[in-house]
Amino acid sequence: MGKAYLKVATVYFTIGVLAGLTMGIIHDFRFTSVHAHVNLLGWVTMALFGIIYHLYPNAANSKLAKTQFWFHNIGVPVMLGGIALQIMGVSAALAPTIIGSIVVVLGVILFMVNVFKHVGNDSNIKSDKNVSL
Ligand code: HEM
Ligand code: HEM
Repeated sequence: MGKAYLKVATVYFTIGVLAGLTMGIIHDFRFTSVHAHVNLLGWVTMALFGIIYHLYPNAANSKLAKTQFWFHNIGVPVMLGGIALQIMGVSAALAPTIIGSIVVVLGVILFMVNVFKHVGNDSNIKSDKNVSL
């Protein structure tokens, strides 16, 4: 689960910085909030999920982690695609944006439950010697 998150995170990072670069070059900042959330919900958040799941295998191997992965990875593209479409004038994209955002929030709640259930036992933390990403 940690590896899957890290790989997906790097894809969002690439898209996020390419979008930022494009916005800067063409001086069109309409998509700033899409760029910001691709980087923050896509790259930063997923990289953190990846590192946390790498450090806590008990949390990573739970069913909650798998469900949470899919909530996040379906919710984020639906939410961000919806915001982008609205910026382009497609007002019908409001409902999918809201649904996508709610799915992201539900995924975050699942992550919180997972952390409370499976993190806290110090023996889960890998020693420096064992960490190999
Ligand atoms: C090569 C990389 C990047 C480029 C060229 C870039 C470019 C930009 C540009 C042109 C804007 C719009 C600024 C404006 O509206 O005045 C912006 C906003 C923003 N960027 Fe980036 N960005 C990059 C990477 C990142 C990364 C890695 C993150 C987060 C981890 C990030 C987070 C944000 C945020 C949060 C905003 C909105 C700031 C605000 O509301 O004032 N950006 N970026
Ligand atoms: C379901 C999750 C989230 C939703 C629904 C959401 C929603 C929003 C909304 C409605 C705005 C105002 C956008 C605008 O004025 O154009 C905003 C701005 C912002 N959010 Fe989020 N957000 C979410 C998650 C996050 C997370 C996880 C982070 C950081 C790790 C973050 C960082 C920011 C920043 C830096 C801004 C200001 C930059 C901008 O203008 O877009 N958000 N968010």
